[in-house]
Amino acid sequence: MRFLSVLPLAALQALAAVADESLSDNIIHPQQQKEAFNTSEIPRAPLPWGRVNFLHTSDTHGWLDGHANVPSWGADWGDFVSFVAHMKDKALRMKVDLLLIDSGDFHDGGGLSDSTSPKGAVSDSIFESIDYDVVTIGNHGVRTGAEALNIHHNLSRVFGDQFLTSNVDVKANGILKSIGHRYRAFQTRKGLRIVAFGVTINDPVLRDLANTEVYSAEWMFHQSWFGEAMGQEADLYVLVGHAPTYASCLDPKKDNPLVCLRDRIRKETDKPIQLFGGHAHHRNFTCYDDKSSGIESGKYCDTVGWVALNEVSSPAWSGAQTLLGDDARPNKTCARGNQGDIRDTPYLLDRRYVDWNRVSFAYHTGDLDSRDTGSPPVLASFDTPLGRKVTDDISKARHLLNLTHFLGCAREDYCFNCKKVGQDGNIYELLKDALSDTVAQKDRATTPRVVISNDGTIRDNIYQGPFMTGDAYAVVPFPNHFQYIANMPCSDFKKMTSHLPTMQQVSCIDDSERHHHDYSAITKEGHSPDLQSHLDLRSVMDDHSDDHQATFPQRNGQQKQYSPGYTTHDALGNDGDDTIHSSIIESERYMKLFWANASFPTPSHYPPSFDVVFTNYLAKKILDALNKIGAPYTDKDVVDYLPRAYTSRDVLVDYTARHWGQDIKNCPIKRPEDRGPPN
Ligand SMILES: *[C@@H]1O[C@H](CO)[C@@H](O)[C@H](O)[C@H]1NC(C)=O
Ligand SMILES: *[C@@H]1O[C@H](CO)[C@@H](O)[C@H](O)[C@H]1NC(C)=O
Ligand SMILES: *[C@@H]1O[C@H](CO)[C@@H](O)[C@H](O)[C@H]1NC(C)=O
Ligand SMILES: *[C@@H]1O[C@H](CO)[C@@H](O)[C@H](O)[C@H]1NC(C)=O
Ligand SMILES: *[C@@H]1O[C@H](CO)[C@@H](O)[C@H](O)[C@H]1NC(C)=O
Ligand SMILES: *[C@@H]1O[C@H](CO)[C@@H](O)[C@H](O)[C@H]1NC(C)=O
Ligand SMILES: [Zn+2]
Repeated sequence: MRFLSVLPLAALQALAAVADESLSDNIIHPQQQKEAFNTSEIPRAPLPWGRVNFLHTSDTHGWLDGHANVPSWGADWGDFVSFVAHMKDKALRMKVDLLLIDSGDFHDGGGLSDSTSPKGAVSDSIFESIDYDVVTIGNHGVRTGAEALNIHHNLSRVFGDQFLTSNVDVKANGILKSIGHRYRAFQTRKGLRIVAFGVTINDPVLRDLANTEVYSAEWMFHQSWFGEAMGQEADLYVLVGHAPTYASCLDPKKDNPLVCLRDRIRKETDKPIQLFGGHAHHRNFTCYDDKSSGIESGKYCDTVGWVALNEVSSPAWSGAQTLLGDDARPNKTCARGNQGDIRDTPYLLDRRYVDWNRVSFAYHTGDLDSRDTGSPPVLASFDTPLGRKVTDDISKARHLLNLTHFLGCAREDYCFNCKKVGQDGNIYELLKDALSDTVAQKDRATTPRVVISNDGTIRDNIYQGPFMTGDAYAVVPFPNHFQYIANMPCSDFKKMTSHLPTMQQVSCIDDSERHHHDYSAITKEGHSPDLQSHLDLRSVMDDHSDDHQATFPQRNGQQKQYSPGYTTHDALGNDGDDTIHSSIIESERYMKLFWANASFPTPSHYPPSFDVVFTNYLAKKILDALNKIGAPYTDKDVVDYLPRAYTSRDVLVDYTARHWGQDIKNCPIKRPEDRGPPN
């Protein structure tokens, strides 16, 4: 193992110079972060082990400290390090292979990665404590040339030939070069010959086009290194992608490079091909043919993906021929209608999505005390020295970076996909309150205004319980400053919003509006088409509300409620989730654009004119919409509303610190048993 000293001392000392009082509580926390809660839910069954097994992470986005208020995802990277060490030991004992894969996106999310400059200065060295066999970069590594260069010089060098960017370049000293290696041909501990690639989707809207390049699959196929890679002896192809596994490939010049690469390899050989996708922020499994399939393993350190393959054959295999022991075996197949198939060894495989908590990890490594004591205790044997050190480093870094500063107590969950628009507990309703409260220019505080924002501003839920500065980073990771157009007539605003994706309605009370009735975007029934379909969706969901109440009979005959979480239906069935949950409403999303109002003389009516404030991210969209209605506004009319240092990131921080209860001792989280079904 190359990685023994985890957080470079220099990194911690540099941080300590910034703030050292916060370390007054200088105790070692040998387990998950001390604010994190334990889950009481146990996995449904042991993992199936095959001859070749994989642990897969994806889209960690800096969440290496875990999710303090969500017991299902309470573990931190140190707990994961211990888990991996035990699983490696187990693979050794069983004489099978275990490979570690990550599909990219290391930053833009958690405070641990985003509160330092450069992003990842601390979190990357924590991430590196897992000795991944293959890692690739995400689209969030190429949004700026500086970040791509940072990854090229730091993360990529640490992982060496395990860091693959088959189609991603960065400009270094004016010359485009691969951020990592193009491919990796290697032999596993048990002798299997693997050829691996790492590809990333192109995001031309947000990528730094001047300093990075993301090539198509077609481009790869014409490179000499690709021919060289395909010339290697291989028993298995491992394709790691920061790309969804389900989006198919019709045109390799522009479509999903991960699936295009699979299709291309399949044209040349019938060897097994295993895909590890990302970017989807979902759990999923897709079958392409009986010997190729792909997994997606969640996001934000909420999931560890597991893939077990049993029939990869190799003349060089030195591991177990027949698996001994009473572990479950992979016994599923991707073959369609294989009843008629007289093959003597069908290609058997299985997958599992493990919840990111210590109980799940310890359950699968045999370190869970199985005596029925209510909350299942994790045995001390679970924590390895390196795992403890990583947890402790995270704990110190969180304090030094001021991520554990208590802002206020969330009395309920605020989420973007489990509450309906307009309902209490919908996070956008909270954000609207916060925008009207905090985005106020001193000199114009009494001038009526609307403050426009968009749904992508919010990236995570706020969970009931203590709300910390670190959580605030996670909820609003992108800083945007506020600009405005002063004193816009209501009629212009109304016409403008009819050219923007929104569900909010505007009615103006000035004369011209009364006489002209220019309701171009409104249907006869008085609803915009979007609103209409949204209401339909709602009623469908209401009809099926029983689906959200998964229950199972307890020993004593009572019904136990599962906590909400992933309920995955994938190509192999409904048994992929390692821990059973009740479903959350996944499709209930807010409108694209929405706005708050403030200082309206009558809150229920739009005044004849008002300031229109918006995040700089929206400025171009708003000017475009104004141009479409022929209103005479140019970018000269768009000026800063607040100093640029005040951003969308400060809004919830200020609002919660001012308006939420400050008693951390009286601020309970929701336990699984009191999480009712979402309504
Ligand atoms: C979680 O469980 C551990 C024992 O495994 C215990 O020491 C710790 O206090 C528990 N944490 C909370 C917040 O209850
Ligand atoms: C590499 O990481 C160090 C430590 O975070 C940082 O100071 C340096 O700027 C990084 N290199 C590049 C090229 O960004
Ligand atoms: C999961 O993958 C299947 C293809 O196997 C696809 O049809 C489906 O849309 C995917 N589901 C999600 C939630 O991405
Ligand atoms: C497949 O394996 C699972 C355990 O992973 C077991 O519960 C199930 O009965 C097996 N199914 C068949 C058809 O053998
Ligand atoms: C930590 O962050 C909070 C909220 O932004 C701020 O009020 C406080 O002063 C910060 N503390 C330190 C030590 O920087
Ligand atoms: C202004 O905001 C308040 C509080 O969110 C809301 O109740 C009201 O409907 C809004 N008024 C308009 C005209 O949208
Ligand atoms: Zn992502």
